Amino acid sequence: MFFPSKPYIDQVVPYEPGRPIEEVQRELGIRHLVKLASNENPLGVSPKARRALQKLLPNLHYYPESTAPELLKALAKYHGVSGKQIILGNGSNEIIEFLCRALLSEGDEVVSGECSFLVYPLITQICGGRFRVSPMKDFAYDLDALGRLINAKTRLVFIANPNNPTGTYVTQQVLARFLSKVGEEVIVCLDEAYADFADAKDYPRGLNYLKQGAGNVIVLRTFSKSHGLAGLRIGYGIGSERLIQYLQKVRQPFNVNAAAQVAARAALEDKAYLRRAQKLVKQGRMFLYKGFDRLGLKYVRSQANFVLVDLGTDSKPVVDGLLKKGLIVRGVKAYNLPTFIRVSIGLPAQNTQFIKMLDLILRRTKGES
Ligand SMILES: Cc1ncc(COP(=O)(O)O)c(C=O)c1O
Repeated sequence: MFFPSKPYIDQVVPYEPGRPIEEVQRELGIRHLVKLASNENPLGVSPKARRALQKLLPNLHYYPESTAPELLKALAKYHGVSGKQIILGNGSNEIIEFLCRALLSEGDEVVSGECSFLVYPLITQICGGRFRVSPMKDFAYDLDALGRLINAKTRLVFIANPNNPTGTYVTQQVLARFLSKVGEEVIVCLDEAYADFADAKDYPRGLNYLKQGAGNVIVLRTFSKSHGLAGLRIGYGIGSERLIQYLQKVRQPFNVNAAAQVAARAALEDKAYLRRAQKLVKQGRMFLYKGFDRLGLKYVRSQANFVLVDLGTDSKPVVDGLLKKGLIVRGVKAYNLPTFIRVSIGLPAQNTQFIKMLDLILRRTKGES
């Protein structure tokens, strides 16, 4: 069949998400599975969000309020900004899409780090843009190298801070220097999907730059990770009023569903849940580091709710072996790291099970037992 396809869309390689529990259950017939592959929150849905969702159920035959005014008000208060500076998305992925659709014309350039969130190149490509990357330095963004790629065609810069899949972060000092050099006409997207898990003293909150007047900065946040609502798909961007109102023009009505709106509002108020999630991640990271040390594996210290670890051997047989033991983790070949896996922090018992199984499978793979 002939249709006038666009070559840059024909060339798109679809994004491969972490394998869903249901899919693996169907395929392998394993009933009890632990998913540590998509950086979700192992605490489940927050009790406050759960109650809000139950209350909403009888009203689901109505469309939601398209602009989600109650949630916007709550977020504005939470972050100390105006509601006009916030745009909501069907996951923060949708804000990435708004940015590319609203800012890119064919041939325009987008710049990021080599080993970062794969949705940035994907959406850039779909919008006809050219994606350029600077090499990483010790698994972290090298903002000096990245800055050198910026030219007259550059419209957008994506910096995931902390970064996925490496868990590394850009420091306050380095980010401030970078932002002071980038021209106002280039939009800098600071993707803070994992910010709630970052506890390093020199980890910079992007919002501060915005509040200090950096009109070209947009900060992305999500309810998928620290707030445990990945299945509802809700995230948001905070930027200058001018940029946000411009992005609103490409947002479809009702992009954020009614359940996501009420659950997000309730989750935002559930401070006890957030604290529990943060503690769990902090302790989980330390537990995994110790486990990897014992197994003699190199890993990257993380400011997020996952850890990237080098198995020193092809990751595929290990990922498959873990799957057969009921553990779903993420191979990261798509990021050019064929010997690494990325494992999300789970509940303590899940982390223990993971280290135990990893030990067993690595011994087998290396022929020691
Ligand atoms: C760096 C980064 N940004 C954005 C997202 C998208 O999150 P969501 O669309 O669920 O809000 C993810 C999800 O894994 C991520 O790792």
